[in-house]
Amino acid sequence: MSKIAVVPGSFDPITNGHLDIIMRGASIFDEVFVVVLNNSSKNPLFSVEERMKLIKDVTSHLPNVKVDTFSGLLMDYAKNVGASAIIRGLRAVSDFEYEMQITSMNRVLNDEIETFFIMTKNQYSFLSSSIVKEVAKYGGKIEELVPPQVEAALKLKYNND
Ligand code: PNS
Repeated sequence: MSKIAVVPGSFDPITNGHLDIIMRGASIFDEVFVVVLNNSSKNPLFSVEERMKLIKDVTSHLPNVKVDTFSGLLMDYAKNVGASAIIRGLRAVSDFEYEMQITSMNRVLNDEIETFFIMTKNQYSFLSSSIVKEVAKYGGKIEELVPPQVEAALKLKYNND
């Protein structure tokens, strides 16, 4: 039976830290669904379609990675695609409380789907989509933080060409 995992997130936009977690997840699970949360309460810079396109572009070398979107409960989505696992990246201690809250709630909703945490690489431990956007907005250097396609998309959004 193939082992399917879901990597959920806002991905606004995908960073090298996300990509690292996706690649490591894809080396362990047979199939990985990277899914963009379609949550209208947030005010994203990139539309869901733009975020999905960027993720598809930067994961095109990974044959077992699929890109999708979801709204509603993550556990319903995961069950629908036959996933047995959720993968989340952990950066610092500051992530822990938030992740524990989400994981505990998800376990109440469905205790058959396990959440796995992958520790981020040291060089990405400070990295977040918000920080990348902040730096990009004011024309700072982001080439080591995001894939080239994302760098180009951010420059376009902020007219920083
Ligand atoms: O990249 P993010 O914003 O930290 O990802 C958060 C995400 C998408 C994993 C989380 O908000 C989520 O799973 N939302 C879906 C709604 C849901 O299932 N809620 C119940 C568990 S808290």
